[in-house]
Amino acid sequence: MHGPVEPFKIKVVEPVKIPSEKRRQEAIREAGFNTFLLLSEDVFIDLLTDSGTSAMSDNQWAGMMLGDEAYAGSKNFYNLEKAVQDVLGYKYMVPTHQGRGAEHLMSKNLIKPGQLVPRNMYFTTSKLHVELPGGTMPDIIIDEAHDPENTHPFKGNIDLNKLQKLIDEYGAEKIAYINVEMDVNMAGGQPVSMENLRKVYEFANKEHKLKVIFDATRSSENAYFIKDREKGYEDIPIIDILREMMSYSDGCIYSAKKDCLVNIGGFLATHDKEIFEKTRSEVVVYEGLHTYGGMAGRDMEAVARGLREGTQYEYLKYRINQTRYLGELLIKENIPVVKPIGGHAVFLNALKFLPHLPREQWPAQTLSAAIYEDSGVRSMERGAVSKGRDKITGENIFPKLELVRLTIPRRVYTNTHMEYTAESIIRLYERKDTIPGLKMVHEPKYLRFFQSRFEQVNL
Ligand SMILES: Cc1ncc(COP(=O)(O)O)c(C=O)c1O
Repeated sequence: MHGPVEPFKIKVVEPVKIPSEKRRQEAIREAGFNTFLLLSEDVFIDLLTDSGTSAMSDNQWAGMMLGDEAYAGSKNFYNLEKAVQDVLGYKYMVPTHQGRGAEHLMSKNLIKPGQLVPRNMYFTTSKLHVELPGGTMPDIIIDEAHDPENTHPFKGNIDLNKLQKLIDEYGAEKIAYINVEMDVNMAGGQPVSMENLRKVYEFANKEHKLKVIFDATRSSENAYFIKDREKGYEDIPIIDILREMMSYSDGCIYSAKKDCLVNIGGFLATHDKEIFEKTRSEVVVYEGLHTYGGMAGRDMEAVARGLREGTQYEYLKYRINQTRYLGELLIKENIPVVKPIGGHAVFLNALKFLPHLPREQWPAQTLSAAIYEDSGVRSMERGAVSKGRDKITGENIFPKLELVRLTIPRRVYTNTHMEYTAESIIRLYERKDTIPGLKMVHEPKYLRFFQSRFEQVNL
């Protein structure tokens, strides 16, 4: 049987080549066994991230030529604002250079020192931007999300009992806002149901007067899962699902580098005039004028077009099914992966893949480096290295999920690339006992997974 059929044909290609075995061995050592430190030209298939790695369409490239590079009042800004209003239903939009720029503005304006920002599992930059103004991010995702084998269809859902407990313990005034991520990245690309979004908003906004802010970065992929899995949404167009989702929030941050099919960009959007006024006055300090926010006019045009394009049903169906295709090739050979297969990536369960390694030897980091060495496929650690240290005790935190993320760039790789990747992992699984662990020899202060370095320890 063939993989999912691509709803596009290829007009431009970029050659890639497999580095020799000797070069792969050297390259991963030069990179301190950290795939973030590999040179791109040493990589054959780059599954490090789906962020900023999409292939743009002819329509987006045509839009790039219409970049209005005026410092103020660029027409591309207004096109982007209109796209956000049409697709997401928010009235106000503040552009930023990428998602973390929006996280910065939102957190800085909404969080007071000592406050909590409960969220359905942390994301690295989101957690840091909550901590920098003095906040903490407790996890309120349902327990099923922490179990890689559990096949709950909406593993990204929020557990309202956990939220109630926080309110009972600390009082609602201690909560800055509730943060809901779409298609939860660190849980394996797992969606949130419409029912859950509706209930969280009613609980927060109506009962406790708390704001709900979305991380809407992968909201189009989440909307596809709602259409595919949630009763009553089978016949509703993606764009209507998206608008209903966003109606259960006060605002969102959005990294356009994912579902908007572009290489750079982001924004925050809101229904709330006060959030808009505050963040618009600060965007000029950190990002750029409020009509470009760190993006060139041409970039805003590509985001505006990509936001609309990324909601097309045929595209989303192919996208989600390509990820599933890779996942199913692995499941067939009993490779331990997070189930169900999520939207943007296949996640390997490193604790089951390399059970001979203690957590202190960073199994996911080890596995990610070993995959590169075997085949030139670049993946990413999403486990204890990413999680970092406890803010108070300074101890390493070992989350239940110790994963390697094989992230699929949008419209970039063919199904044959997926097959090549699966073959490498299956081969590695057969000799998993021979893979030695790692020790961390360099640890930067912030977001250590990006730049930390490791050495092999003897088996
Ligand atoms: C869920 C989520 N939120 C926020 C961000 C940050 O966005 P950016 O990388 O554009 O700064 C990312 C990026 O990977 C993400 O996956």
